[in-house]
Amino acid sequence: MQLTPMAPKCGVEVSGVKLAQCSDAEMQEIKQAIYEYGVAVFRDQEFTPEDHITFGRRWGGIDVNNYFPLQDDYNEIAVVKKEPDQQTNIGGAWHTDHSYDQIPAMGSVLVARHLPPKGGDTMWAHMGAAYDALSDELKAAVEGLEAFHTADHVYKADGLYAQTDMAKSLRGQDLKTGAIHPVVIRHPHTGRKLLYVNSAFTIHFVGQTRAESMPLLQQLFDAALTGDNQCRLEWKPGTVAIWDNRTTWHNAMNDYHGHYREMHRITLSGEALAA
Ligand code: OGA
Ligand code: MN
Repeated sequence: MQLTPMAPKCGVEVSGVKLAQCSDAEMQEIKQAIYEYGVAVFRDQEFTPEDHITFGRRWGGIDVNNYFPLQDDYNEIAVVKKEPDQQTNIGGAWHTDHSYDQIPAMGSVLVARHLPPKGGDTMWAHMGAAYDALSDELKAAVEGLEAFHTADHVYKADGLYAQTDMAKSLRGQDLKTGAIHPVVIRHPHTGRKLLYVNSAFTIHFVGQTRAESMPLLQQLFDAALTGDNQCRLEWKPGTVAIWDNRTTWHNAMNDYHGHYREMHRITLSGEALAA
């Protein structure tokens, strides 16, 4: 198995392994690489829906997404798709998956099933590098803070997505979510400090209103994306990406209007987070 970094501080391309047939030792090495680099990319994989589900269960369990359409024959698989006549896409802004759950999903396994001729890349940003790059003042300001996360403003019947052309394909409009996490967490396996707020789902600091929270929150959202902590993936048929939702943010480029794109996602179960 060979590891080739995709960028100085985020992402790694892993070659010399077949995900569907990897050994326990390879699985361990893959997990460690994802915890550290944030996202790992595997090319030329033969990875059927059955392989996808088997891999997720083997990793440690699957969290089924409450909002996206599910694959007809395999309900553990969420379908992330955009039709040729659709304008908005799923995940088309910086975010991390499921931070609105009190035990948030560890990561996601995304498989390319149908790609546009050009475009539709995905970007990731490393939140360990983001934390390291914060000024001493910002590090002191976030010390000990907790924040409230929810997805209600995105997915509810009067939420952001309901007003777009994705509305008809989404589920779960009557769900209510909410979770409190430390603003800086320690990665459960590497121990690295990670900035754990994101502009999609983090609403306010605990003990402060939205208005009181916003100046510092916005500073953190901005700081999380400056510098060289990002990487970008150009998908090809057979590409699989696995990322750590604690270690990274991600963003799906929406630059392929008029073309169909379909990805399959399994969300991996995680653990409670601590400072
Ligand atoms: C996701 C997501 C990115 C993409 O599946 O969680 O944000 O590129 N997708 O489709
Ligand atoms: Mn996502």
